[in-house]
Amino acid sequence: MSQTPTLDPVTTSSEAAALSGNAALAARSGHLSPVLARYFQRGWVRGEGHRLYDADGKEYLDFACGLAVTILGHAHPAVSAAIHEQTDQLLHMCNGLGYLPPVTDLADALVETLPAPLDSVLLANSGAEAIEGAVKLARRVTGRPAVIGFSGAFHGRTYAPLSMTTSNLNYRVGHGPFLPDTYVSQFPSVYRGFGGDETAAVEGALASLQRLLAEQVPPQSVAAFLIESVQGEGGYDPVPAAFYQELRTIADRHGILLIADEVQSGLGRTGRMWGFEHAGIVPDVVCIAKGIANGLPLSAVVASTEHMRAWGAGAHGSTFGGNPVSCAAGVAVLRTIREERLVENAAERGAQLTAGLRAIAAEDPRIGDVRGPGLMIGVEFVTDRETRTPDTVIGDVLIARCADLGLLLLTCGPSHNVVRWIAPLDVTADEVDEALGIFRTALAG
Ligand SMILES: Cc1ncc(COP(=O)(O)O)c(C=O)c1O
Repeated sequence: MSQTPTLDPVTTSSEAAALSGNAALAARSGHLSPVLARYFQRGWVRGEGHRLYDADGKEYLDFACGLAVTILGHAHPAVSAAIHEQTDQLLHMCNGLGYLPPVTDLADALVETLPAPLDSVLLANSGAEAIEGAVKLARRVTGRPAVIGFSGAFHGRTYAPLSMTTSNLNYRVGHGPFLPDTYVSQFPSVYRGFGGDETAAVEGALASLQRLLAEQVPPQSVAAFLIESVQGEGGYDPVPAAFYQELRTIADRHGILLIADEVQSGLGRTGRMWGFEHAGIVPDVVCIAKGIANGLPLSAVVASTEHMRAWGAGAHGSTFGGNPVSCAAGVAVLRTIREERLVENAAERGAQLTAGLRAIAAEDPRIGDVRGPGLMIGVEFVTDRETRTPDTVIGDVLIARCADLGLLLLTCGPSHNVVRWIAPLDVTADEVDEALGIFRTALAG
């Protein structure tokens, strides 16, 4: 990721005033912990629709969405109105103290988007918290200790998700020991794993899982499989449908719960409401966060009422989880997605963007792969198409160049060599063309 601020943190206010808006803000941010790496040395002060404005007043087309969160863009009128209305009614009431209309409404709206038997919603504040909750549910409901994740995954930075997060060594180094009885099996990466085609990737990853179940942990000790329907931070890499289907079969055979991490891939991002729909399977538990309230902190664990009952009243909870203002925003987000047919838009604009990127890749040997469903698209850069050696330099250079040209994109993958495109769900055809034009210019150097 990017470097920590280079300006002296003890810049005086008069020195800061002499700097430009971005530089001044960076200069007076010395009390912010450098543990948080920053993609950009810019200050962000305003957002409107799909445009962001920095502290120098420069405008950007936002295809980063605050890291896959502002899926309806900034200051969306329906979301803002819902927030204002709820703020004037009731700002906070712990969900553990009773029932709140926007919380009940959000649960109903979420369940409407999910297949049976996923009909029971527990609300929390962040993606990591949702994964924590799902792991606790799986352990308690099955009475088994082990959880198996997949290599290259990112599930969050608290200990349960971190124990199965391997997308970047820096997240783990020095943070162990991790949660006992957590395991990592090979992810079926079509581009990166097992010889480069889908069949080989699926067979290789299944063999890896079978070995793990035969050599390290027996299936009857496994509470859950935890998998992102499309890997996010790990490189925008979708789970092949055949693998997901087989994982479902193995889980059913052994009474293992299947937890789908839809934190980044959910809510229409992949051109379907939920990423697992591409494989035609139904998980036992779904974790949702990021875009659910278009910018307010909120997440959800959804399972069957039967599983939630078996988890047990009082077994889990949160002071802030299900904040009514976030839930009111969430209801507006789900209504807008449905009424404006934004899942369909994500599929259509995603196809346009993928076609444009493939046309660029056809003439640019630095691009090894363009992949991903809907508007969850990764462009992987390599130094050699034959060996698929990751280009560890170009990703960060390119997104910096794009930002200078007025387009916000991010990288992902352990070598930052995948440029990820996270356009808002209501992006227009003209905006997709504008972004492709800027990307072409940035590639030309
Ligand atoms: C797939 C996935 N799961 C979990 C998380 C963790 O979410 P949070 O940062 O809200 O804790 C993320 C965050 O990027 C994610 O992409």
